[in-house]
Amino acid sequence: MNAYDALRMADVLAPEGYDEALTIDDADLVILNTCHIRERASEKIFSELGTLRQIKQARVKNGKAMMIAVAGCVAQAEGAEILRRQKAVDLVVGPQNYHRLPRLVAEARERPGVVDTEFPAESKFDHLAPAKRAKTQARGVTAFVTVQEGCDKFCTFCVVPFTRGAEVSRPVADIVRETQALVDAGVREVTLLGQNVNAYHGADKSGVASLARLIERLARIEGLARIRYMTSHPNDMSDDLIALHGSCEKLMPFLHLPVQAGSDRVLRAMNRKHTAASYAALAARVRTVRPDIALSSDFIVGFPGETEEDFAATLDLIRNVCFATTFSFKYSPRPGTAAASLSGQVGDDVMRDRLSRLQALAEAHRQNWQRGFIGKTVDVLFERPGRLPGQMVGKTAHLVQTQADCPASFAGTIRPVRIIDASTNSLHGIVVGAGPRAQATEAAA
Ligand code: 5AD
Ligand code: SF4
Repeated sequence: MNAYDALRMADVLAPEGYDEALTIDDADLVILNTCHIRERASEKIFSELGTLRQIKQARVKNGKAMMIAVAGCVAQAEGAEILRRQKAVDLVVGPQNYHRLPRLVAEARERPGVVDTEFPAESKFDHLAPAKRAKTQARGVTAFVTVQEGCDKFCTFCVVPFTRGAEVSRPVADIVRETQALVDAGVREVTLLGQNVNAYHGADKSGVASLARLIERLARIEGLARIRYMTSHPNDMSDDLIALHGSCEKLMPFLHLPVQAGSDRVLRAMNRKHTAASYAALAARVRTVRPDIALSSDFIVGFPGETEEDFAATLDLIRNVCFATTFSFKYSPRPGTAAASLSGQVGDDVMRDRLSRLQALAEAHRQNWQRGFIGKTVDVLFERPGRLPGQMVGKTAHLVQTQADCPASFAGTIRPVRIIDASTNSLHGIVVGAGPRAQATEAAA
């Protein structure tokens, strides 16, 4: 979502005469878009700001100005504290206020030290400028579209409900308009974004639309070939959304569905409101509808009180569900969250050990899954030139990066590719036809 937000910030500042600079030294304005989810991401910002301060000083010496803004969830969480820790910062702006950037930047130019972290009554989406067509074209054939923001779940480890606020869904018509403009500019694939995207409930002509209804509406846009969504909560995987995975050809067979842990005791302490067994049953239901679906998940190791036995249950769940890809993290206590004050905080060496065991298991599964595509023919949406001359890179329906020798004119087209080899993070293949093959029959091992 920060990647999407960064583009929206660029777009809202474009009418003010701002364009993306090629180097930091050349920038009149630097916006640091920040993440608060774990301490490491959050703390990195202050060393980054130290570097920016030096660049700013060098520019000032040469008679040029440079404004430094901090955006994103650290801005939201720390507000004026950022100005206290780093005097070179001119502006602190939270994620709900990006539509106000032109005014805030003008204010900060006059009087450095502006902070805007309130949750405004108006929706930023009503005031954010759309991208110019040429900009969208330059950004490539895949795009993000935020459809929902915020979270009401309050998992005990997570800052998102505090930094992004309560759940808000954009109206269907707005999302259709934004997606249509992207498609008109050549975008072929959209990923619908939300902290809790499958809790989407946007206003529609007929009342309130679910994520499934929204996807059905978007699937009617001619020229849009692929639709994805992330990130979902298991408890919001509604029947209509599961069913859609079996009936909507444009909905890609990939589902990022974080489970976080495999021990029911830990899941309860995390306030996840599902069990390991209910999660596995849900995964099985989705696979009944779409047998080749690639499941992906997030895991936290070392949640307060996690024992070796609890951790073993996480490994069991991974063996049982078989994820295509996983993202795993050491638990990081976050200010203001319920888990931060729990007793039984797990030591870093134990967390590091568990993380590496989890990742070794998950990586073995991922490699195995990826190698399963060798010898098969899959559809690839080509996006951009590859590292080697004459090569293009794209993604399969299952979101695996794939390289093939083909002309640059293939960008934005979907072609059948016979997979001949796999490296650690990508597949290699040969284009074997002109049009896409029927995606529904693209079964992976
Ligand atoms: N510590 C470690 N990982 C976290 N995540 C969220 N909060 C924390 C935390 N305090 C992870 C979760 C979530 C992903 C985006 O980040 O796994 O799904
Ligand atoms: Fe955080 Fe996701 Fe839980 Fe919401 S559902 S609190 S975003 S981990």
